[in-house]
Amino acid sequence: MTTPTTRPALDLIRRPRRNRLSSAIRDLTQETRLLVTDLVAPLFVKEDSGAPEPIASMPGQFRYNIADLVKECGHLQSLGIQAVALFPQIASEHKDPHGSYALAQKNVLFAAIKTVKDAHPDLVIISDVALDPYTDHGHDGLVDAQTGIVMNDATVEILCLLSIELAKSGADIVAPSDMMDGRIGAIRTALDETGFINRGILAYSAKFASAYYGPFRDAVGSKKSPDAPPLDKRNYQLNPANAREAMLEARLDEEEGADMLMVKPAGLYLDIIRQLRDRTALPVAAYQVSGEYAQIHAAADRGWLNLAATRDESLLAIKRAGADIILTYFAKDIAQTLA
Ligand code: PBG
Repeated sequence: MTTPTTRPALDLIRRPRRNRLSSAIRDLTQETRLLVTDLVAPLFVKEDSGAPEPIASMPGQFRYNIADLVKECGHLQSLGIQAVALFPQIASEHKDPHGSYALAQKNVLFAAIKTVKDAHPDLVIISDVALDPYTDHGHDGLVDAQTGIVMNDATVEILCLLSIELAKSGADIVAPSDMMDGRIGAIRTALDETGFINRGILAYSAKFASAYYGPFRDAVGSKKSPDAPPLDKRNYQLNPANAREAMLEARLDEEEGADMLMVKPAGLYLDIIRQLRDRTALPVAAYQVSGEYAQIHAAADRGWLNLAATRDESLLAIKRAGADIILTYFAKDIAQTLA
C-alpha cells in the first residue's frame, strides 16, 4: 500500500466502503450465502414413456417419464441437491370435475414417488397435495356447482386420503398447496392414524392468488386452452394485498401441526417471508414460482438482463429476507455453478 500524502477532503470517521474494496474483503463481510443445501428442485412427471418434453414457458424444464425422472433425481443428488418437489401432468382423459384420478392406484405420481425412493432413498421427496392436476376445471378442490366456490370440508377429506397414498408411496413430506381451512390438522391426524407419524407437512401457508403461476399451469396442463384467461382462485388463495392475513394463515398451520411453513410466490413477497421468519421458530420455505423463473429467462433471452447475475440476485434476496428453504427451478443451475 502506498502512503497517502494528501489529507482527505472529508473528515470522515466512518467509511463503509473500506469493507467493500476488494473481493476478499467483500467475501469476509458477506452476510448471506446461498447454499446448494438450501434448495429444492421442483420436477414434473408425465404419464407416457416418451422422451422428456420441454416446457415452452419454462426454459430448461421438462416433463419427464418416470425412468428419466429417476435419472434426473440422481443427477441432482450428485450435484448436492437433497430434495425434490414432484408434480404430475395428468392426461386430460383422466380428469373429471371431482379429480377422482388423484386417488386412482394408477396415478402416475404414486409410481413416480415409489420408483424415485427405491433408486435414491436419501433424496427427500416432497409431494404437492391439491386436486388441480386432476380436475378438468383446474381448481384445487371440488367446486360447488351453484356458487362456483371451492368446497372446503369435502375437499379436505379427499386431500387427507391423497396424503395417505403419497405417504404409502414413499413421500417424506406432503405439501398441501390448496389453501383449504383446517387441512393441516386433518392431514396430520390422517397420517398419524395410518402410522405415518414421521412424515412431515410443509404447509403452503401464505399462498397468494398470483398471476405468476401461469407457466406452471401450462406445465401441468391445468389450463383449458393456451389463451384461456387465468383461473380465478381468489376464493381460496390469499389476496396479494394482505400481509396480516398471511400471518394468520401461517399461525393456524403451525397450531395445526405443520413442520415447515411456506410463502409463495417468493420474490414479490419478501416482506411476508421476513415477517414470518421473525414470528415462527419453524423453518420457513419460499417458492420462487414459474412466473418468476420465466420472467428472468425471457428478459435474458432478449439480452435485457444477464441470466446468471439476475438469477443469483433473485435467490440471494429470498434467502436474505429469511427463507431457510428455497424451491426454485434454478436449483440445478445453481448447484452446477456452486459445484
Ligand atoms: C397448485 C399449485 C400451483 C403451483 C404449485 N402448486 C399453481 C396454482 O395454484 O394454480 C405453482 C407453482 C409455480 O408457479 O411454479 N396447487
